Amino acid sequence: TAIDSDAFVFFGASGDLAYKKIFPALQAMIRRDGLDIPIIGVARSGWTIDQLRERARDSLEHNGGVDEAAFAKLSALLRYVDGDYNDATTYANLKIALKDSQRPLHYLAIPPSMFGPVAHGLAAANCTTNARVIVEKPFGRDLASAQALNRTLHEVFPESAIFRIDHYLGKEAVQNLLYFRFANSFLEPIWNRNHVASVQITMAENFGVQGRGAFYEEVGTIRDVVQNHLLQVLALLAMDAPVGQDAESMNAAKLQLFRAVRPLDPKDIVRGQFVGYRNEPGVAADSQVETFVALRLHVDTWRWAGVPFYIRAGKCLPVTASEVRVDLKPPPMDIFDRARAHEANYFRFRLSPEVVISTGARVKKPGGTMHGESIELVARHQLRREKSPYERLLSDALHGDEGLFTRDDCVEAAWRIVDPVLGDVDPVSFYEPGTWGPAAAAKIIVGNGGWHDPKAEEIAPC
Ligand code: BG6
Repeated sequence: TAIDSDAFVFFGASGDLAYKKIFPALQAMIRRDGLDIPIIGVARSGWTIDQLRERARDSLEHNGGVDEAAFAKLSALLRYVDGDYNDATTYANLKIALKDSQRPLHYLAIPPSMFGPVAHGLAAANCTTNARVIVEKPFGRDLASAQALNRTLHEVFPESAIFRIDHYLGKEAVQNLLYFRFANSFLEPIWNRNHVASVQITMAENFGVQGRGAFYEEVGTIRDVVQNHLLQVLALLAMDAPVGQDAESMNAAKLQLFRAVRPLDPKDIVRGQFVGYRNEPGVAADSQVETFVALRLHVDTWRWAGVPFYIRAGKCLPVTASEVRVDLKPPPMDIFDRARAHEANYFRFRLSPEVVISTGARVKKPGGTMHGESIELVARHQLRREKSPYERLLSDALHGDEGLFTRDDCVEAAWRIVDPVLGDVDPVSFYEPGTWGPAAAAKIIVGNGGWHDPKAEEIAPC
């Protein structure tokens, strides 16, 4: 079994991610698991330790609430190192702050362009022996930069010490996708081209770029959520059974699937931009960056040949919800009422904000005639005290558990799929905020029943 890390260092301590996700996760880890190791924030904001503590409190107040006892502990464990990431003094100061830590975990919550300088700075200051490193997404900008990034990180860290984070993999519902598929026997016989007509994955958000315009300009929807979150979901849906639940087996199964996905053809994608995006701070007046994408993928395997996989994601859509829908082929003949093909049978996996798995079925309506209706057989999970994705993934990394992290070859294989459509392959089509993207998105899916738009709330929040 792996040895636990004995210090937690996070670069980007004054940033957005630390504010929204890292402080809340740390408080939760202190409360739940009694996390008791030095927690060192590194930033180039010219702050003091007191400012970092204030920031932590503010973050907790806005993201789930302050638990005074846990916060007191967090404050006591917290240290701060200020400095430029290109300056050797920063790492020398970090080394001092690490005191007698033998096995630090470094979390790079910073832009990928800084991963190289930070990794080398850490190595030069002797902060990498027995260390682990977590790197945020997006992991590079395209296939070539991801490969270069892997090479750079490998100069300093062995692959087993690198934890590429994708918080979707820490979500209950995403883990349940894997569990549901491979803990049951009724699914496998139909989970293939003989019975599945098409698959669609939608990740909708009803908000815009929320002040992250400058970041978003560098990224766009494909890099932000398709290359990582949604291709990971696709892999879990479509891959063959892993031989075990260990990281190596999981990555092997995913890699095989990614390799079978045909790189995107520009004619299989529609890029959209919501009206108003160009007025956001940090956004170019003539920006061609997509805030919406709808695309069709082909998985060239015996299991899936000919079955289209659709992905749709966007900002400023009517709801915030992520959902997978697996449409089964209609019955071979229509004995009763004219069940429309897309009304017959399907599986629906609600990934966010709730955890729901449902099966669409036809049942007879009470009465003399053989007429029916579509119903759903539904399994819901009310999430109460489950770990948030970041809490889950940060504790896994501290314990050296790689199961939910992405391996170098998998991350590259996922980039290979989207690589041909990065950049301005076609001009973006505009859409009004609060709609389901540009009209052209519907054309991609004609013949497969159209898009199924996720509904707003499934379960009243607890
Ligand atoms: C992040 C993206 O990775 O995921 C954001 O950068 C997006 O643009 C977010 O809003 C969505 O994650 P969640 O867990 O809030 O659905």
